[in-house]
Amino acid sequence: MRNYDVVVVGAGGAGLRTAIECARDSSLRVAVVSKVYPTRSHTGAAQGGLNAALGNATSQDSPEFHAFDTVKGSDFLADQDAVYFMCKHAPEVVYELDRWGVPFSRMQDGRIAQRPFGGASFPRTVYSADRTGHVLLHTLFEQALARDNIDFFNEFFLLDLLHNGQRVKGVVLYDIRNGEVVNLRARAVVLATGGFARIYWQRSTNATGNTGDGVAVALLNGLPLKDMEFIQFHPTGLAKTGILLSEACRGEGGYLINKLGERFMYRYAPEKMELAPRDMVSRAIEYEIREGRGFGEGTSAYVHLDLRHLGEEKIKERLPQVRQLAIDFEGVDPVHDPVPIRPTAHYCMGGIHVENYMTSSTPLEGLYAVGECACVSVHGANRLGGNSLIELLVFGKFCGISAREYVKQVDFLELTPGEERKGAEFIEKLMRREGNQKLAEVRRKMGDVTWQKVGIFRDESSLQSAYEELSELLQRWELIPVVDKSRIFNTNLVEVIELRNMLHLARAVAYCALHRRESRGGHYREDYPERDDENFLKHTLVRQEGDKLSVEYREVRITHHQPAERKY
Ligand code: FUM
Repeated sequence: MRNYDVVVVGAGGAGLRTAIECARDSSLRVAVVSKVYPTRSHTGAAQGGLNAALGNATSQDSPEFHAFDTVKGSDFLADQDAVYFMCKHAPEVVYELDRWGVPFSRMQDGRIAQRPFGGASFPRTVYSADRTGHVLLHTLFEQALARDNIDFFNEFFLLDLLHNGQRVKGVVLYDIRNGEVVNLRARAVVLATGGFARIYWQRSTNATGNTGDGVAVALLNGLPLKDMEFIQFHPTGLAKTGILLSEACRGEGGYLINKLGERFMYRYAPEKMELAPRDMVSRAIEYEIREGRGFGEGTSAYVHLDLRHLGEEKIKERLPQVRQLAIDFEGVDPVHDPVPIRPTAHYCMGGIHVENYMTSSTPLEGLYAVGECACVSVHGANRLGGNSLIELLVFGKFCGISAREYVKQVDFLELTPGEERKGAEFIEKLMRREGNQKLAEVRRKMGDVTWQKVGIFRDESSLQSAYEELSELLQRWELIPVVDKSRIFNTNLVEVIELRNMLHLARAVAYCALHRRESRGGHYREDYPERDDENFLKHTLVRQEGDKLSVEYREVRITHHQPAERKY
């Protein structure tokens, strides 16, 4: 067993930014744990950019406008003090990245360029062509590697948390390379394990590894998750695969076109058109398809994203990855042809309940959560494009400062013999398990249930039936054997545990959605199509005890803007 002052689980943008901040105190030892090699973390898939009111594109912009747009975009469910905090600190973390070497796209005069994004009053999204997440992740990794008090545990999978009910003690890990179970003792643990939009297995922008391991481990350890019902569907996934085509396409001027050749967004958001927030644009596309104005039929229906009028030079300069993805996965070159697209599961607004946005602390002392796995909440019911990367940078930084100071005040806690054996016993039991269920079948079924019954449109009966079916799939999970008996890179074993994690989270999403009898942001109930501030201007907290889920509610912190109808 090894001891670390801080163990950060997750080596995407949130985990790396937090670790860098913790490691500023050279007397501390920091571990960064990742189930993939860090540069393969999902932050690398972020394309369009990050929001910060630098005022480069227009001096009219300000952190206050950024905050207002974010609160309005959230359908007034975000905690406004947390939003103001994020927007105030956004410019400083962007300039910090600039100094660290992120190759941001520039204006003629050398200042950082900013492009329009959905729901924003001004061009505010800082970018590096359409590979922003990739360059950000690599730069953060370089910064982390440069600090010799950070140790990396690459290809280690989080199995469990160690704690005494009040305080965290460490983590239990599975070494994917050789099948060993490793306990790391820690004064503080930071969960930065990313989102779980892969519960929509068949159609998501997410890497197949985005299975919500940290969020599930928190739930299974009795911690509350917040606002799980709010899932973001990105409007422009490639039609056949669901792969992301960045919002930057529309930010740079791309159109959405139905089969009649109409720019149909005039019907839904006459002012903002294609740059309305994602929840509205995704629903608009689905309405067009329902009304028979899409191309194709059923699950393979789509509308067009048209970039041709932007011209070859601009497409190649600003959207090179988008162009390549369209060529490789849809067989069309956006320079010459419109691209078939349809909404795709993209982001989880909900996650591990964070008690204090300034520290990112959870209700378990010494445990922090940051990035997409956490719910601060700055996104409320609908996140604005470009606010995810900025969230993980701002809250990663401040979480790192808090954890760094906290660990100086506390000692390590002893592990009991039972705790020391816990992980190894779990793995042995799983390896010996017998049963007649198939991993791929249960996972496919989960994807069907989430997509069809907990998707862009929901209602009481679809959600009730999803909850029941997902509960049944959890029982079937108990009968999935690990067929690969090897210890070396046993991805079959990892996938079985990932599926357990996704099933628990999918069921929690359905359960929370069932209880929220209104429509708000990404949660659209056809049986309750209006927002209901009187009864539901509140956060959902869900807990699991044994097999049972329960919900309670928390007030939304409204410090600046009273809820109003969202019009774009
Ligand atoms: O569309 C995109 O480039 C994604 C950005 C985001 O989710 O923030």
